[in-house]
Amino acid sequence: MTATISERLSSTGTANALELRGVGKMFGALSALADIDMTVRPGERRAVLGSNGAGKTTLFNCVTGDFPPTTGSIRFFGEDITAFPPHERIRRGLRRTYQISLLFSGLSVLDNVYLASCGVSRGRFSFRRPRRDDALMASAENLVRVVHMEDAKDTIVANLSYGQQRQLEIAMALSGAPRFILFDEPAAGLSPTERRDLVEILTGLPGHMGFIIIEHDMDVALRVAESVTMMHNGRIFKEGKPAEIENDPEVQALYLGGGEDG
Ligand SMILES: Nc1ncnc2c1ncn2[C@@H]1O[C@H](COP(=O)(O)OP(=O)(O)OP(=O)(O)O)[C@@H](O)[C@H]1O
Ligand SMILES: [Mg+2]
Repeated sequence: MTATISERLSSTGTANALELRGVGKMFGALSALADIDMTVRPGERRAVLGSNGAGKTTLFNCVTGDFPPTTGSIRFFGEDITAFPPHERIRRGLRRTYQISLLFSGLSVLDNVYLASCGVSRGRFSFRRPRRDDALMASAENLVRVVHMEDAKDTIVANLSYGQQRQLEIAMALSGAPRFILFDEPAAGLSPTERRDLVEILTGLPGHMGFIIIEHDMDVALRVAESVTMMHNGRIFKEGKPAEIENDPEVQALYLGGGEDG
């Protein structure tokens, strides 16, 4: 299907980074997501909160195309990507990290980032037969610095701490100059020091690089995000500025006082 001129024009300029309209996802009879309307501006940093099973990761899977939605539409910088396969979304500058680590454990930090850069530079997330490319290697070295891992760049992934592995995943998600990134619980399992480091990495990203961060730790979420979407039972429960959400009695009753185990 070819885009009309107005569609192509609207895919640049002032279009929103993400626009979800009526997005729903069924797994058999289970409604994991329903009626999701969400708009995220370019450069905006949004936290998605909600208890276990609220549908947060499913929301990411719909946006990335890992599990496309059953209903509704998704626009990325103005372009309707609802039916696109994941690699077409990656090609347009969408990246994500996963709740579960996906790294090459026998390779070094730098090699992992280099391979991720190779994958996206060809416009496909494929890791077959990379040839050494100095520009990509330089960009990989830079990304290793961005996530504060310069001293560990030659370390084999299997020898990294859990927190370092999560930092490495962020470097990989940053490869190929993304326009928008989805972070799925990057702070889960991190020590307090590692959490502070993560907040620094995320707040230090270039201003045009918007993201959504799924986060159970309100403290991390509120420090990195300018807006918050609170989910419950597959639906959006509340949206607002961090302070509004934090002080909302309904949110407090549902979430903050709800024995969240992270
Ligand atoms: N691939 C799948 N097949 C069947 N059901 C699924 C699948 N993925 C998610 N679900 C179900 O959809 C609902 C939402 O799950 P999801 O993983 O999106 O929650 P979440 O908010 O990310 O939770 P958590 O905080 O535990 O990561 C849950 O009931 C889950 O069991
Ligand atoms: Mg999840």
